[in-house]
Amino acid sequence: MNYILNFSQIVINWFHFNGRKNLPWQINKNIYKTWISEIMLQQTQVEVVIPYFIKFIKKFPNIKKLSNSSLDEILFLWSGLGFYNRAKNIYKTSQIIKNKYKNIFPENFYNLIKLPGIGKSTAGAILSLTFNYNFPILDGNVKRVLTRFYNLKFKKYKLEKILWNKLNILNPIHNSQKFNQSMMDLGKIICTFKKKKCNICPLKIKCLTYINKVIIKKKIKKKKIKKCWFIILKYKNFFYLKKQKNKIWNNLYYFPIFYKKSELFKWIKKKNFCLKNSKKLKKIIYHLNTYSLNIKSIIIEIKKKKKKKKKKKNNKIWFNFNKQQKIGIPTVIKKIFYKIYKKY
Ligand code: ADE
Repeated sequence: MNYILNFSQIVINWFHFNGRKNLPWQINKNIYKTWISEIMLQQTQVEVVIPYFIKFIKKFPNIKKLSNSSLDEILFLWSGLGFYNRAKNIYKTSQIIKNKYKNIFPENFYNLIKLPGIGKSTAGAILSLTFNYNFPILDGNVKRVLTRFYNLKFKKYKLEKILWNKLNILNPIHNSQKFNQSMMDLGKIICTFKKKKCNICPLKIKCLTYINKVIIKKKIKKKKIKKCWFIILKYKNFFYLKKQKNKIWNNLYYFPIFYKKSELFKWIKKKNFCLKNSKKLKKIIYHLNTYSLNIKSIIIEIKKKKKKKKKKKNNKIWFNFNKQQKIGIPTVIKKIFYKIYKKY
C-alpha cells in the first residue's frame, strides 16, 4: 500500500514542476472541449492536434453549435488530421446528445462509453480531466511507462488487462486528474519510445526495467574476462582429473587448466600421447564472483593410458562420470561432462 501511495505521489509531485498545464484544452476546460481534444488525440500527437483544436473550437464553441452543423462542415475542419472516422463519430455523437440528452453532455461513465468513438480510456479521460473523477487513462504513453516500470513482457491483450488492473489500483481517489495528465506527460517527455531519459525520471529507483539494466551494466562493467583452456583427456569412458591447488576450486578435481596457449602446447608435447582423436568443444563463459572465465576445452582421446607411478601422492585420477566416484568436482566441470555425454 505504501508503495502505491508513493508511486502516485511521485508522479503527482513531478507533475507540479514538469507537467503540461497550458494546453489549449486545459484552459477554461469543460466536458465538451475535453471530449473534442481526446478524440483528436486518439492516434495523433499533441503538437499536431493543437492548431486543429483551436480552429475547431472557434467554429464550434459548444455542443449546441456543433450539433446544429453538418458532417461536411466537421470534415472540412478535420481535413489533414487523418483517421476521418473520428470526425464521423463526433458528428454522430453530437446528434445523439442533441436528440437523447437535449444538448447536455452526459457526465457519467456508462452513458459516455455508449457514444460512438468513446471507449474505456477516452471516457475515463473525459471525466477525470474535466471533473477530477477517479478514472484511469490508458493511452500509448501511459502503457509505455507502466510496461517498463513493471518490466512486463506479455502480449497485447494480456498486457492491457494487467495494465488496467495496475492503473485501477494506482489511480489516486482525490487526484486522478493530475495523476492521469502526469502519466501521459511522463510518457511523452521522459519515458519516450526512443532515447528515454531514465536519468531524470522520478520513477527510476523503482522501475524494474531501469534497475535490471543498471544491474546488468554493473555486472558487465565490473567483471573481467580471463581466457583459459581445459584439456579433457579421455580414455574409453574415463577422464583424467587432477586435484589442484588454486584460488577458485581449491582441492577439487578438474581437468588440467592452462591460462596461456603456449603452456598448453608445451604440456601436450611433453605428454606425448598415443592419440586416437581430438576435438574442440564450444566455448563456455563461466561467471565467478570477481571475474568470468572464457573457457575453451579440447577433448583429446587417447588409445593408451600411462601407468601410475607408484610412490607418488594420488592427486590424479581416471574418473568415470557414469559411476560417480565420491570426489569434489566444480560445477563447471559437471556442466562440461553433461555436454560431452549429450554428444557421445
Ligand atoms: N493523449 C491523450 N490525451 C491526452 C491529453 N489530455 N494530454 C496529452 N496527451 C494526451
